[in-house]
Amino acid sequence: MRIFRTGTLAIVVFLTAFTVWAEGENTIINPPAEGSISREEGLAAWARIYDVTSHPRCSNCHVGAANTPMWSGPTYGKTRPHGMNITAGDSRIGAETLLCSTCHVERSGLNDIPHAAPQVAMAWQLAPVEAEWFGKSSVEICEQLRDPGRNGGRDALALASHLDHDLILHWAWNPGGGREPAPYSLQEHIDDVLRWGIAGFPCASD
Ligand code: HEC
Ligand code: HEC
Repeated sequence: MRIFRTGTLAIVVFLTAFTVWAEGENTIINPPAEGSISREEGLAAWARIYDVTSHPRCSNCHVGAANTPMWSGPTYGKTRPHGMNITAGDSRIGAETLLCSTCHVERSGLNDIPHAAPQVAMAWQLAPVEAEWFGKSSVEICEQLRDPGRNGGRDALALASHLDHDLILHWAWNPGGGREPAPYSLQEHIDDVLRWGIAGFPCASD
């Protein structure tokens, strides 16, 4: 906990020094001023972030050490492990058995066919095991996502910037093929991550 608090302080100092607006591909990174977001507003932002992270378009890939992608959400009917006995292995890309890219081919714009394998212009693979979200509670994901040891060493600004540069995320908000997109918009999600960070990354468990 002490390590985390020090990290938060460093983030606040860093964000304060960050005065220039940074532009992503389609989004704007515009952190609110230090001290302008209350704990309550931070928790409200977190609740919306949890709506996103727990959504099937995100959590189906953010799975644990069993290395099994999930099929869940209305277009899949019932929640179940990925069909065809697919397992990603410790490589998380299927290198041990069948590469994810065999079906999730690396190219863009071909997601209009229902039940076809989603395709993006980058390698399709499971998220790192430390970023396990599937079936986790709001508090569990909250504590994990603010922990630099489990979030890829990212502060709020790096988390927010990462979100725009990842083509998988652009797919999650525009999945095609009748799939439900992740809630809110990518821009609103980025704004919420910044708001939550400026508020000091509050979790209901604090
Ligand atoms: C196709 C699988 C896949 C889907 C779907 C997916 N992710 Fe990820 N995610 C990854 C991979 C792979 C990484 C690690 C690569 C990286 O950090 O750049 C990652 C890393 C992350 C990270 C970095 C923090 C961490 O804990 O490592 C965040 C934040 C994130 N994803 C958010 C999301 C959100 C939000 C959605 C839904 C809108 C989503 N992801 C959907 C595969 C996925
Ligand atoms: C044999 C082909 C095939 C392989 C190999 C494959 N997939 Fe899939 N995948 C599919 C198909 C087809 C769908 C869509 C099924 C549907 O919509 O009913 C899918 C859907 C998914 C989804 C759900 C996306 C969503 O709509 O939320 C995830 C997550 C996923 N695959 C991850 C993986 C990962 C990770 C790998 C590698 C370990 C992998 N897949 C390997 C065919 C494959």
